[in-house]
Amino acid sequence: MNSDKQRPIRIGICGLGTVGGGTYRLLSENREEIARRLGRELEVCHLASRTPKVQFRDAGIPFSSDIFAVVDDPQVDIVVETIGGFDPARELLRRAVANGKHVVTANKALIALHGNELFELAKQNGVTIAYESAVAGGIPIIKALREGLAANAIQWLAGIINGTGNFILTAMDQKQRAFADVLKEAQALGYAEADPTFDVEGIDAAHKLTILASIAFGIPLQFDSTYTEGISAITIDDVKYARELGYVIKHLGIARRSERGVEMRVHPTLISEKRLLAHVNGVMNAVLVKGNSVGATLYYGAGAGAEATASSVVADIMDIARNSFHEAGEKTNTGLPSLAFNQLNVDLPILPIDEIDTAYYLRIEAEDKVGVMAKITGVLQNFEINIEAVIQKEPESHATGKVPVVILTDTVREKQMNQAIQALEALQEVPGRIARIRVEELDSEESQ
Ligand code: HSE
Repeated sequence: MNSDKQRPIRIGICGLGTVGGGTYRLLSENREEIARRLGRELEVCHLASRTPKVQFRDAGIPFSSDIFAVVDDPQVDIVVETIGGFDPARELLRRAVANGKHVVTANKALIALHGNELFELAKQNGVTIAYESAVAGGIPIIKALREGLAANAIQWLAGIINGTGNFILTAMDQKQRAFADVLKEAQALGYAEADPTFDVEGIDAAHKLTILASIAFGIPLQFDSTYTEGISAITIDDVKYARELGYVIKHLGIARRSERGVEMRVHPTLISEKRLLAHVNGVMNAVLVKGNSVGATLYYGAGAGAEATASSVVADIMDIARNSFHEAGEKTNTGLPSLAFNQLNVDLPILPIDEIDTAYYLRIEAEDKVGVMAKITGVLQNFEINIEAVIQKEPESHATGKVPVVILTDTVREKQMNQAIQALEALQEVPGRIARIRVEELDSEESQ
């Protein structure tokens, strides 16, 4: 279907794995619907993959094993980069932009670490680099923050932004399944990163949070300042004790702006079972955003997988086709800044993790002796840390001579908590390391 005389917009796809393959299939399956929305056709005119992809070679579309052939192809208007990683993706984008091509990328790592440089190059060349699919798969969270919430000063956002991690924590909570076993399943389903430590150690979520914080607060991308902690130290016991206290453990990315600066942190977090976020399970993602005018808004959907991510890639292609090709073949810049703000605030300080204020869950394996509890609470009192709740469990076996003591504290500055933990670990009655998980109330109006 070609509803007027405009020529099709021509797409070249570099990388035909989960996301690239999904993008190709979606462009083909929904071709008519997309053309009806746009009023013109999108045509895939060049495919490239560094590994052989027999199924795509039969598609009747020029196929290259050299991905740079796509960005050098004069036919291509929009380059889709779905190869992932830094090299050669960074060079590929630089060359595409230098060649005057618009780019759609799903590469969160590349944007989080090199986005400042790439966006500047795109601006100089009058082209767009779109990256909706880089954060939270199919959820249009970039569009919501950049456009839908544009009138607001964003106060904070908190999100479950790694599907694999959420898949694992959900299985630990609901089925008491072993970590490694669930991770294997997530890999088989195409959710996990090529290096799954990116998922379980929080690096993937930190890439995404870095991007969200920049477009929420109008600050340059600063991945190195994002505090990153994964879920590999979380035990089934922690998940169980959190439930007993009325909380769920979720791996959250949190960005908050206060008078002191900006917080950017990714870590396991206890949240009340009453929060909607606590009910986001499996591979699903959700981002809760608090704006000063709108209040809290929540965005929920599939955070990984071929079809969901392709939905965002193709939406970006359609945005560019709509905004940047007013006349057949003529490129114009949309004027929408890559990081949502025409002027970035380069002076806003990023708070180091020991400067944040939060409540804590502590699990202390203490010796099963008279007076231990008094000693522990005494240390917390010395550091002026208020206790909200305590559970002392029966020792699982008297043979170990240890008893788990679980404490929920009031809000305290992290550096003060670090000193208290050091003092607790110095007690003779506390022989091992203390497990510490931050607790967030997420002072939004939403709850179940
Ligand atoms: N590995 C990522 C996840 C894929 O599990 O969320 C989507 O970015």
